[in-house]
Amino acid sequence: MKFIYTQPHDWTEQEKTLAPYIDHCKQVVATSDYNALEASLCLSSDKEILAQVDEMIKKKKTNELKYIIVIGIGGSNLGTKALYDSLYGSVDVLTPDRYPKMFFLDTIDPKANTTFLNYFDKYITNENEFSISIISKSGGTTEPLVNAEILLGHLKKQFPNWKDRCVIITDNNSKMWDEGKRIGIDVLGIPKKVGGRYSILSAVGLFPLAMAGIDIRSLLKGAESMRSLCISDTSENHARSSSIFQYLYLQEGKAIHNSFYFHPELESLGKWYRQLVGESIGKDNIGVTPMVSIGSVDHHSMVQLYWGGPSDKTTELVYSKKQSSCLVPSDPLFPTLSTTEGKDTAEIVSAIQKGTALTYENQKQPYFEVVLDDINEYEIGAYMQYKMMEILYLAHLMKVNAFDQPQVELYKIETRKILVKK
Ligand code: PA5
Repeated sequence: MKFIYTQPHDWTEQEKTLAPYIDHCKQVVATSDYNALEASLCLSSDKEILAQVDEMIKKKKTNELKYIIVIGIGGSNLGTKALYDSLYGSVDVLTPDRYPKMFFLDTIDPKANTTFLNYFDKYITNENEFSISIISKSGGTTEPLVNAEILLGHLKKQFPNWKDRCVIITDNNSKMWDEGKRIGIDVLGIPKKVGGRYSILSAVGLFPLAMAGIDIRSLLKGAESMRSLCISDTSENHARSSSIFQYLYLQEGKAIHNSFYFHPELESLGKWYRQLVGESIGKDNIGVTPMVSIGSVDHHSMVQLYWGGPSDKTTELVYSKKQSSCLVPSDPLFPTLSTTEGKDTAEIVSAIQKGTALTYENQKQPYFEVVLDDINEYEIGAYMQYKMMEILYLAHLMKVNAFDQPQVELYKIETRKILVKK
């Protein structure tokens, strides 16, 4: 992964502010300190968690496995969906013979639930064909609880061994943990100090992804190598650079950050990052509003605003060095219109990327580029680790607590109160 940016101002002061915090993070990693708020930094090298996940995979994986269903919302599913979609998402529907496939049940959507149950009734004949992960850090979130009741309530009528096909992933102290144990469903834990949006490298992401055949060792390796860079005192500390970059522009009133991905399959990755930004630093009446754009869909929808509207944003252009290839025929159907006959789409996409970066440059809009070597487990693992560390550093500069989400909790409490009253 390569990180290209122009340093906006002198940032010696911010480097000095971050230095002790980066040292602290280094210490957390060196001592595997799961009591620290930054406990998620220990995950990429945690052999114990990996062994627990491997053990569960051995128990649950079957040769007939076709459907991995993830019930969870927010930090409990966005990271997993980001990875799955990065690798398969945008064309998943066009590869009907590729299994296992993942389905995500997050919101309570009666139409989606009913369609899903009908699909199950029609296409699943054998319980070895599916695996269900019920994921909730707190164990008390309304949406996953409702979806789990609906799906499992339906399945148990048809599949006598339904419990064997489920795994609950939750905090070791949650009521869901106790319930899982009581009714005889296997349970995997989430370390106490690892919050939802930082949990992708725990069992939350590792178990369902490995069930789907995704190479979690490579994912962890990518994250671990990025972690080494981002606790170092070198110019390769991308998390430090981009946190300072965003911080300095935030001081100038650029309070919107646009993540511009040049591969449609990375849209879910953008949504994962959006949660990380929104919940980690949107508090105490300050924050950065995260946006996700897709190249070149949004060139024909949003760039007018980006380049002609208010200069209130920083932008991150993300693309992969390795591009798939597809040739435009050299004998065009529309010879008077065509300018690209015989060209490779990789060349055309690359021209759009370069053209976009140049326009940002010419329009004097602050941006940086993240160039992935490829779109695979290793690179996405590295990117996710970089982003989680960037947000820790940005929160430190902004002097906000990156680990809580008090306003999200408010809505959960009010919803529960309303439901109990009725
Ligand atoms: O990052 C967070 O902590 C939140 O977004 C949670 O992931 C989200 O609210 C879902 O909560 P839970 O995993 O407890 O069901």
